[in-house]
Amino acid sequence: MKILFLNGPNLNLLGQRQAEIYGRDTLADIEAQVRHRAVQLGAEIEFRQSNLEGELVAWIQQAKGRFDAIVLNAAAYTHTSIALRDAIAAVGVPTIEVHLSNIHAREDFRHKSLIAPVCRGQITGFGKKSYLLALEASVDVNESK
Ligand code: DQA
Repeated sequence: MKILFLNGPNLNLLGQRQAEIYGRDTLADIEAQVRHRAVQLGAEIEFRQSNLEGELVAWIQQAKGRFDAIVLNAAAYTHTSIALRDAIAAVGVPTIEVHLSNIHAREDFRHKSLIAPVCRGQITGFGKKSYLLALEASVDVNESK
C-alpha cells in the first residue's frame, strides 16, 4: 500500500512558525514519525511539501494509479481552493484531510473547508498526532475496500 502525504503553503516553516498553534516539530520531524509508524503498518509513504497551489494540483492528478490514498494538509488552500477540491474529486484516490490545529476552534475563515466534501474524512486538532491518525485511517480505508 502506497500513501502520498501532501503539505501545502507555509508548512515548510513548521518548528519556527507560531509554535503555540502548530507545535515545535519541524515537517521533517513529523515525516520521520510517520515513516516509523508506516513501517509497522506495512505501508510505503511519500512525503512532499509545496507552497504552490498548481504543484499540489499536479501531484494529486499524478497520484491516480500510483497511490492508494492521499493524506492532504492543504494549509491555507483548504479554505480557498476550488482547484484542489476539483483535483481530488477528479482522481478518485481516497483522500484524508488533515490539520495540526483544530480549524473549527480558530478564526471564522478557517471553519470552512472547501475540500472536506470530497475527502473521506477530516482529522483536525491533534498536532503532529493528526498525521499518525491520518496514516491509520488511510490503511483502514484501503483494507475495507
Ligand atoms: C493548518 C490550518 C490552516 O488553517 C492553516 O492555514 C495552516 C495549517 C493546520 O495544519 O492546522 O497553514 O492546515
